[in-house]
Amino acid sequence: MDELRRHIEAVEGDITRLTVDAVVNAANRSLMGGGGVDGAIHRAAGPQLKEANRRIRQTQYPDGLPVGEAVITPGFRLPARYVIHTVGPVWRGGHKGEPDLLFNAYYNSLRMAARQGDIRTIAFPAVSAGVYGYPYEGSIRKALEAFDRFHQTAPEWPFEKIFLVGYGRPAYMKIRSVIDDFFSDR
Ligand code: APR
Repeated sequence: MDELRRHIEAVEGDITRLTVDAVVNAANRSLMGGGGVDGAIHRAAGPQLKEANRRIRQTQYPDGLPVGEAVITPGFRLPARYVIHTVGPVWRGGHKGEPDLLFNAYYNSLRMAARQGDIRTIAFPAVSAGVYGYPYEGSIRKALEAFDRFHQTAPEWPFEKIFLVGYGRPAYMKIRSVIDDFFSDR
């Protein structure tokens, strides 16, 4: 089996309930919370998450987190020890750099996790695939491309498991089929 394949797993459910080392948040540039998975993560983590992000805004990103970048905070009341916040692109038809920006969001989130040094398991939602309108399967495929690039180029691979989280059964089944397709033609 493809070495990377065994590190990647589709899982169904609410990312805020997963007992993993880190969950990735599909944030907006303000880092001040919002709806969707961002809202769910902030609700579950508690108010300290917003405070941590406020400090990041003040010290590192006064103008907001650029699209495709990632930052890390503690998970506070979440089961996950860390939250990695990234900002995906808004879908505008696919010809305005959205695919590359989404790749960066997934890649930089994984790089941030590797840099932290004690993250072995990490869970990703389908970044940009909700409010931001990115095609669902396209987002999952972009995630796999980013994980594959990191796996090929990073000096070391510290991860046991990368979970791609389907929020509901249909989403979960879509993730399963995108993973199967991605690794079938390799
Ligand atoms: N667990 C896992 N996945 C979830 C959850 C959850 N609790 N809630 C939503 N999702 C899924 C959605 O179904 C979608 O497939 O996460 C994916 C990303 O959707 P959004 O949360 O809408 O994120 P995105 O499309 O990147 O839009 C980001 O939405 O919530 C605001 O503040 C956020 O402005 C930002 C924008």
